[in-house]
Amino acid sequence: MSAKKVLGQYFTKKDLWLKPQVEAFIVNSKCSIAYDPFAGNGDMLETIKGIGEIKQTVGLDIDPKLSWRLNDSLQAIPALENAIIITNPPYLAKYSAKRKQIHHELEYYYQKSGFVDIYQLALFNTLQSAKYVVAIIPETFVNSRFSYMNRLSQITVLEENPFEDTENPVCVVCFDGKIKNYDQIKIYKNDKYICTLDDLERHRLKPRFSARITFNTPEGKIALRGVDSTNTQNPISFMREDELDYDTKLVKASSRLITLIDIDSRYQPYVDDIIQESNQILKNYRNITKDLLLSPFKGNQKNGVRRRRRLDYKSARAILEMAIDRVNGNNDSCSNLVSNSGWFGVSV
Ligand SMILES: C[S@@+](CC[C@H](N)C(=O)[O-])C[C@H]1O[C@@H](n2cnc3c(N)ncnc32)[C@H](O)[C@@H]1O
Repeated sequence: MSAKKVLGQYFTKKDLWLKPQVEAFIVNSKCSIAYDPFAGNGDMLETIKGIGEIKQTVGLDIDPKLSWRLNDSLQAIPALENAIIITNPPYLAKYSAKRKQIHHELEYYYQKSGFVDIYQLALFNTLQSAKYVVAIIPETFVNSRFSYMNRLSQITVLEENPFEDTENPVCVVCFDGKIKNYDQIKIYKNDKYICTLDDLERHRLKPRFSARITFNTPEGKIALRGVDSTNTQNPISFMREDELDYDTKLVKASSRLITLIDIDSRYQPYVDDIIQESNQILKNYRNITKDLLLSPFKGNQKNGVRRRRRLDYKSARAILEMAIDRVNGNNDSCSNLVSNSGWFGVSV
């Protein structure tokens, strides 16, 4: 099996990750050593030479073909005084390791740590070893329940791809070891400040199971294209089943991107209104949250840097519930998503 797949050897070729706020974080750390415990070709260490008070770089790797000191950094990372960890660790979700049939080679790490992705174990180990950590990790982290979230200083979602050989959507996380409330943790998209982690959490959609809504069912009269297509004209949207340009016989119990949805027979006569309301709520939600609560999807839209997104069914259910409430004349459950201004003061 190739080292690329098993060891996650996708190197950070471009310095797109070093946004001004990330650079300021490194400078403010006042650390003199840049330390990459998953060093690969050493590209990240090379990028930050000469920044702030960095005088020295130190790398470790498990691959003896590389020139670093050997260390299994998924076991433990030796601490170094006055060092800031700057890394892009290997990523591999347990389910994709199974699909790629390399699960047995990594089973030990999943078993021992209980994490569902190797990057989470790597990140956990960096935080045991250093106070200051900068790591490029999958963007799915933003919607994860990682236990040290409250030691974050900032998260930067990168829409441009810093790799040459993979399109995995990523973010740059900066930890400073201080425990904080989420309203002190800043979220950026590229180099633009968006909001705090607290703002984002307050807008997370949670279904109330207030109406019978069944996904992935052939009887469904509402269709959901749950992922942005590469063409900007076809974003995620709800529509009538007969408007979907997809063979609906292909919708299965496991479908996650395109589906048919059945709703309580009481609401069937209002399907068109519910679809219209759902699309309006979704549009407002995307504007207000700047897409950061929607799952990232591999690849960008054709018009350039905007990342494609996927709407998970839990959030889709919450949107349909709000739309049903609206159609029933009850606006309480969705006031901030149907009003004319978001929490950033942006018109929606
Ligand atoms: C995604 S690459 C990143 C390399 C470098 N940080 C960069 O950004 O270009 C991950 C690196 O971690 C190394 N690696 C994988 N498992 C490791 C382990 N258990 N201990 C130390 N290094 C490991 C791989 O050999 C690879 O060089």
